[in-house]
Amino acid sequence: EAETRRCLVEERVRAFPDFPVPGVLFRDITPLLKDPIAFGAAIDLLEAHLKTSYPQIDCIAGLDARGFLFGPVLAQRLGIGFVLIRKKGKLPGLTESVSYALEYGQAELEIQSDAVEPGQKVVLLDDLLATGGTMSAACELMKKLKAEVLECLVLIELKSLKGAEKLKPFSIYSLLQYD
Ligand code: PRP
Ligand code: ADE
Repeated sequence: EAETRRCLVEERVRAFPDFPVPGVLFRDITPLLKDPIAFGAAIDLLEAHLKTSYPQIDCIAGLDARGFLFGPVLAQRLGIGFVLIRKKGKLPGLTESVSYALEYGQAELEIQSDAVEPGQKVVLLDDLLATGGTMSAACELMKKLKAEVLECLVLIELKSLKGAEKLKPFSIYSLLQYD
């Protein structure tokens, strides 16, 4: 059952106060990755959600770095491809890039220009939505490549940072929500 699976996931997320900087309550997913039952439960839930809501999905685009931990596994379950959205300077060939502000710091995201075709239907995936800066930058990259964002998908949403508002009109789906 879905609620049982959601509890398994929740039990494997730890919180660390003041990491990496004072004032940030860091949500750590490493226990989830270490527990195959809980990790499997997370993938089951994400798979069921995407199969129900977006049967037309063409590929999953994962965000550097923690989106890479879940994206390929989920894409394999759905029988679709996985593409990389990386921090700037890691990808060869023609690329597009967008800069953005983080809950802590500043960065730039990049994608290969041929990663997705115009008109393709993409789900963006990351471990966590905080301010939404990272996910918004990923949405902008999709716009540059003329791909269609079906949804922004995360395991964890930090509600108080109002990332969902920043992402509008794109929709966000999360397995776990914290204030
Ligand atoms: C974290 C997290 C998200 C992002 C969310 O990654 O994995 O990608 O922050 O924050 P935002 O909603 O405020 O943009 P981080 O930038 O720390 O880098 P990492 O993936 O390399 O650990
Ligand atoms: N990325 C941005 N904010 C974060 C948080 N509070 N915990 C884990 N990852 C994050």
